[in-house]
Amino acid sequence: MKNVSIDTITQAFVDYCSDDTDARTMFVLQKMVEHLHAFAKETQLTHAEWARGLKFLTDAGKISDDERNEFVLISDVTGLSSLVDMIGSQHEGTSSSVLGPFHSVGAPLLPVGADLKKDNEGATVVVEGFVKDTDGNAISGATIELWQTAENGLYYSQDGAQNDFNLCCSMHSNLEGRYAFTTVKPAPYMVPDDGPVGELFRATGRTPWRPSHLHFIVQKTGYKSLVTEVFANEDPYLDADAVFGVREDLIMDYVEHSDLSALPKDLEVGDKVTLPYFKVDFDFVLVAENTITPEREDT
Ligand code: BEZ
Ligand code: FE
Repeated sequence: MKNVSIDTITQAFVDYCSDDTDARTMFVLQKMVEHLHAFAKETQLTHAEWARGLKFLTDAGKISDDERNEFVLISDVTGLSSLVDMIGSQHEGTSSSVLGPFHSVGAPLLPVGADLKKDNEGATVVVEGFVKDTDGNAISGATIELWQTAENGLYYSQDGAQNDFNLCCSMHSNLEGRYAFTTVKPAPYMVPDDGPVGELFRATGRTPWRPSHLHFIVQKTGYKSLVTEVFANEDPYLDADAVFGVREDLIMDYVEHSDLSALPKDLEVGDKVTLPYFKVDFDFVLVAENTITPEREDT
């Protein structure tokens, strides 16, 4: 096309592409360019605004390294990560939620009832529940990985004062599908706002805070892996999560107890739990691998 115009440039991109390319790749890339062009036309994007956008992406590249990936954070805080998550998990199982950057591979495997609180400051929380399939049958031998912040709102990897793998573990559900552990109440925290993502927050008047949460990955052969988070019902940031991770079924009551008889019997700390403690009951529902997911538009 020798005379590309505002009206023909999108089709020109499509026409210039080769037919030999993988169909799905071509579909996704053509749609991306179509939406980019539509965005520029709808906003009547100025040259200065276009240059500012490119500077934003360049700055994201400069601040990223092996430890920090500003592009993942951009995806998180614009809601793209959560949107992709929700598109891929439209089923009757437990909702998935963002993975975030603080998952560590290699956390110790602990028995059901383990104590993660140890010497950590903060209110004691007893978390207990079952791993089930969508018919309510117990799933034994599922691997449950957990990680969370300490009371100061920091993960162990951000805080030199915490031991390696503090407040992290993996655990296998028992024959009844049950898991349980003692921990501390996690705290709300801010996603890193000292880079381009911080500028985005300030430019849009949004808060960089995330409501307090426990992170989980639950896996069992034959079932779809579940990456999720469990939130506290009274948290002030539930309606403003910086990364849009909150789903109704992931919000739990932290029920205050002083009654030791309400404790699970197999807790490693037994009845030496500090009082009052909070109890969180949360079941994970896994979806079988062969469950049909909604069809994509291009198939
Ligand atoms: C987190 O929950 O750990 C997290 C998620 C997305 C961005 C930053 C942190
Ligand atoms: Fe987190």
